[in-house]
Amino acid sequence: MNIRVERELGAVGAELSGIDLSQPLGASTRKEIADAWLKYQVIVFRGQELSDEQLVRFSQSFGLLEKAPIPEKAVGVASMPRLPEVTVVSNVIEDGAPLGALGDGELSWHSDMTYIDTPPPASILYSVEVPPSGGDTWFSNMYLAFEALPQSLKNRISDLKAKHNSSYTSAGTLRRGFEEVDDPSKAPGALHPIALLHPETQKIALYLGRRLNSSIPGLSPSESESVLDELWAYAENPKFSMAHQWKKGDIVMWDNRAVMHRRDAFDPAVRRILHRTQLLTFQA
Ligand code: OGA
Ligand code: MN
Repeated sequence: MNIRVERELGAVGAELSGIDLSQPLGASTRKEIADAWLKYQVIVFRGQELSDEQLVRFSQSFGLLEKAPIPEKAVGVASMPRLPEVTVVSNVIEDGAPLGALGDGELSWHSDMTYIDTPPPASILYSVEVPPSGGDTWFSNMYLAFEALPQSLKNRISDLKAKHNSSYTSAGTLRRGFEEVDDPSKAPGALHPIALLHPETQKIALYLGRRLNSSIPGLSPSESESVLDELWAYAENPKFSMAHQWKKGDIVMWDNRAVMHRRDAFDPAVRRILHRTQLLTFQA
């Protein structure tokens, strides 16, 4: 295969071309893609056409898959994925039942499923139907965010962990089976180092998960809030980010440990359907 880097996308990401991802990947192609993913953190392929089975097979080329996350309460039975590894992200309502999760609103900056002990190393989104405009997905480079921290702040967080709350989706809606949270320190979730040593690249990424109900155990509530606010100001700096404007048939695969992502809101009257998989483990 002749995979090419079509273009680099600024602070993070690259568009690759020259491959049909519906076909099984040979070992050398697989390695080329994995290397590009680790190097650029976000890789974009255009003009793809995959069934869910092919999306799962492509994803499985890079490791074992994680099951779809627990959806928000409102998501109905009709939206249950046909394959357990595939999450449907959609605002479309058919016969009164949402086809998928996360609606049409803005999604705030986050990494996927960091509220579990072993968050996915990669997430993969495939666009089935997208609006003519709106609903861009933004990615922000957390290696650059970490590098930009003043040394004093790097020292301050070097041994700290943050608790990544599991109660809410990135749309800010409560997950099925979870209770409202008002004290972040009591919120359910998983602990992860704030300065994350990336197991493959050996670089350090700022690893924050999401802001809502996040906390730093061991600090007082007000210290925890102020350190988090300070860190988030770096994470959200626009100079570390790029926006992906969706076309139908895009596949975007990101390193969930090294980038955060968010989504712009879009017109509720238009249809947007994406299918997502996430790795449980990455196979180097
Ligand atoms: C996700 C997500 C962004 C989008 O599926 O994890 O954040 O553009 N989606 O819908
Ligand atoms: Mn997400």
